[in-house]
Amino acid sequence: MPVYLDHNATTWVDPRVLDAMLPYLSGPYGNASSLHRYGRAARDAVETARAQVAALVGAQPGELVWTSGGTEANNLAIKGVADAAVATRVLYGITDHPAVMETAESLQARGWGVEAVAVDHEGVVDWPAFEAQLARGPVRLVSLMRANNETGVIQDVARAARLAHAAGAWLHVDAVQAAGKIPVDFTALGCDLMSLSSHKIYGPKGIGALLVSAEVELLPLHHGGAQERGLRGGTENVAAIVGFGVAAELAQAELDTRAAQALALRERLEAGLRNIRGIEIFGAAAPRLPNTLQFALHGYDGEALLMQLDRKGFAVSSGSACASGKGEPSHVLIGMGIPRETAKGAVRVSLGKDNTAAETDQFLTALKAIAAA
Ligand SMILES: Cc1ncc(COP(=O)(O)O)c(C=O)c1O
Repeated sequence: MPVYLDHNATTWVDPRVLDAMLPYLSGPYGNASSLHRYGRAARDAVETARAQVAALVGAQPGELVWTSGGTEANNLAIKGVADAAVATRVLYGITDHPAVMETAESLQARGWGVEAVAVDHEGVVDWPAFEAQLARGPVRLVSLMRANNETGVIQDVARAARLAHAAGAWLHVDAVQAAGKIPVDFTALGCDLMSLSSHKIYGPKGIGALLVSAEVELLPLHHGGAQERGLRGGTENVAAIVGFGVAAELAQAELDTRAAQALALRERLEAGLRNIRGIEIFGAAAPRLPNTLQFALHGYDGEALLMQLDRKGFAVSSGSACASGKGEPSHVLIGMGIPRETAKGAVRVSLGKDNTAAETDQFLTALKAIAAA
């Protein structure tokens, strides 16, 4: 079996999650909006999961809206706020995921000023530049990721929330990569909106959530039934919701163990990498997710390296899965001011709860063999 080191792209469904989902796929159950007993059972399952997912990030169950994943949650946050407001300005992190970047940029056609918030060489927000942007005129929404999917760099979103609020803006946080890997507290961080996704934490794909605090004015992306307080019409995917709920509960219960194990493996990997000539580790001086490591081997193309590693039995990524195959260097590294040629060499390793020290050692041996060839 190839060694899977691409958990930021997606994770498989934990068998405990699958067990919880199965009755809602093949068993007799109703539409969660139906009033009969089958409907009520489905509703109960949806509400239990709502409490489980909200608990993972210190939110109230009533603040949670189910979506089809992180992409839809980011779209609902940004377009939903824009649709409910008079056009002013929206700011987003320059290293944010395309689901934030592209959504924010799409508002330009509707008269919004859209600006990227710069980061420094380590991938951390350039705070003086951010404050200057906020001071330049009215801003309705700031969108900033909690942790980067490529480098793992963690942003101080509590600081961003304080600054955004002082400027009269709301803060949306893409916590898709952070939730379940590091402590994330929607309320304590002062966030107004937060996106989550199930398939990064051993839940099923195609289910996510947007947390929306009470004061935020938001319009739905589409019209339909009154589900999710009218913010997301459509019959609920009960099995996926149940799976997300259990995955969130497990992530919360096992967070410390998973994080400690991932960090030990990452440090082992980093120590080994530093012995290879021509290695650069991105965001190394910044706070990072315990499971994530992005590096370049100078003189190598990231995608070619990925394919060589694949042949040797290791599944890694050359950046974000969404950007792969485009032949363009990662916008995250370019945003950090990394030269294009170096950025083109980027490889991302993202560890999961079942990786072992033997696997990371084998990975280092394979990489050293490639570098020596
Ligand atoms: C930071 C971040 N935001 C959003 C998404 C999109 O989430 P989903 O795949 O659930 O649409 C991803 C997925 O890679 C991500 O890493």
